[in-house]
Amino acid sequence: MYNKGTIIPGLIIFVVLMLFAIFNNAGKKIEAPKVEKPVGYKECVKPVQYMKESHMELLNVWRDEVIREGKREQVEAGGVLYEKSLQNGCMHCHTNKTKFCDVCHTFASVYPYCWDCHVAPQEDLALKEAR
Ligand code: HEC
Ligand code: HEC
Ligand code: HEC
Repeated sequence: MYNKGTIIPGLIIFVVLMLFAIFNNAGKKIEAPKVEKPVGYKECVKPVQYMKESHMELLNVWRDEVIREGKREQVEAGGVLYEKSLQNGCMHCHTNKTKFCDVCHTFASVYPYCWDCHVAPQEDLALKEAR
C-alpha cells in the first residue's frame, strides 16, 4: 500500500534539502593546507606541480628501482646529488615531517604506513643542522 499523502511531500522535502546542500556549498573555496618549505633548498627533485600530484608514485618508482633493480645511482636537484631514498633523500631536505608531510596527509585523511619501518627525521636536530 502506498500513501500518496506522505510520499509526495516527503519527496519535495528531500529535493529542497538536497538543493540547499548543493547551493549552500557552491562557490566556496577550500584552502589547501600551508606546508613548511625546506630551509636552505630551492628546488625539489621534480617540478613542484608534479611533486604535489605524484610524489607517492615517484616514491614507488624509487623503491622499485633501488630494491628490485639495484639502481642506487643518485638523483640531481639544483645541481646537487641526493640519495634515491625516502629517509636519506626526501627527508634530507624535508626535515620536518610533522609540518610538511603530515599537514597534507591529515587534511586529506591519508596515513602512509611507511614510518612503521622507515625512520622519520629527528626534527629539532635536523633543523638545527640545516640552519
Ligand atoms: C634537494 C632537496 C629536496 C629533496 C631531496 C626533495 N625535496 Fe620536495 N621540495 C623541496 C623544495 C625546496 C620544495 C619547494 C619548492 C617550491 O616551492 O618551489 C619541495 C616541494 C615538495 C612538494 C610540494 C609541496 C607543496 O608546496 O605543496 C612535495 C609534495 C615534496 N616536495 C615531496 C618530496 C618527496 C616525497 C621527496 C622524495 C621523493 C622530496 N620532496 C625530495 C626540496 C626537496
Ligand atoms: C601538498 C600536500 C602533500 C605533501 C606536502 C605531502 N603529501 Fe603525500 N600525499 C598527499 C595526498 C593528497 C595523498 C593521497 C593521494 C591519493 O590518495 O591519491 C598523498 C599520499 C602519499 C602516499 C601514498 C599513501 C597511500 O596510502 O597511498 C605516500 C607514500 C606519501 N604521500 C608520502 C609523502 C611524504 C614522504 C611526504 C613528505 C616528504 C609527503 N607525502 C608530503 C599530499 C601531500
Ligand atoms: C615492512 C617495512 C617497510 C615498510 C612498511 C615500508 N618500507 Fe620502504 N623499505 C624497507 C626496506 C627494508 C628497504 C630497503 C632499504 C635498503 O636496502 O636501502 C626499503 C627501501 C625503500 C626505498 C628505497 C631506499 C630508501 O632508503 O628509501 C624507498 C624509496 C622506500 N622504501 C619507500 C617506501 C614508502 C614510500 C613506503 C610507504 C608507502 C615504504 N617504503 C614502506 C622497508 C619498508
